[in-house]
Amino acid sequence: CLLHEAQQEGCGPVPWSGPLRPSFIAVGEAPGPEEAKAGAPFVGRAGKLLRSMMGAAGVDVGDVGFANVVSCYPSKSDGGFRAPSVAETTACRDNLMAQLELAQTQWVLLVGAIALHSFRSDLTITDTHGHVFVWLEKYVVMPILHPSYILRRGSHYLKKETVADLTAWAQMIADGDDPLAHLDETCVKCTQPMLHYDRDGVGYCAKHWERWKGQWMKERDRAKEVIEQLSWT
Ligand code: URA
Repeated sequence: CLLHEAQQEGCGPVPWSGPLRPSFIAVGEAPGPEEAKAGAPFVGRAGKLLRSMMGAAGVDVGDVGFANVVSCYPSKSDGGFRAPSVAETTACRDNLMAQLELAQTQWVLLVGAIALHSFRSDLTITDTHGHVFVWLEKYVVMPILHPSYILRRGSHYLKKETVADLTAWAQMIADGDDPLAHLDETCVKCTQPMLHYDRDGVGYCAKHWERWKGQWMKERDRAKEVIEQLSWT
């Protein structure tokens, strides 16, 4: 594709990294300059923050896979980083799907708005970070705020929000709460298909989730109390 052709000498596509069958795979937007040089995803400043937030949420980072919706560094004419375009994320879609297949995990953490939009263009990251969705009847996905955005905002509060999201996510995986096991079921409140799940594995359609998500939010608030006591470097 054009993005691949535009790569500088010595910087090729950055493939996913991590163990086979990771506990989940984190999918970001694109390799930055440091990732393009190192040939590995999430090794720069944002990657370090992401890994440290995962650690604070009790995730074993060595058991996580890392990938991006596009595998090549998207540069502006002056060589600086830019977000990948929809055409570029679409062109790299099969490549991403192949990496998810290779990783052999159903749990996909979407890191930032670009990653979310390449899965669900109808949702916004501010409204849906920390919420869990079933995608293609095959993957369980959760969006989180992008660590570059948190760094740009310099916000301790956004770090805590993200650690709270990651804590609930890790807990769901550790508890084996598998939403895919409930795919054929309908919302507990109506006959629409289940799309969202609360922490007790009860499923709701999009409309009823809006009314019942308080339960999930309580869980996140509990996690935030714990995070309050953590120190940040
Ligand atoms: N590093 C990556 O590999 N992806 C991102 O989205 C950000 C930093």
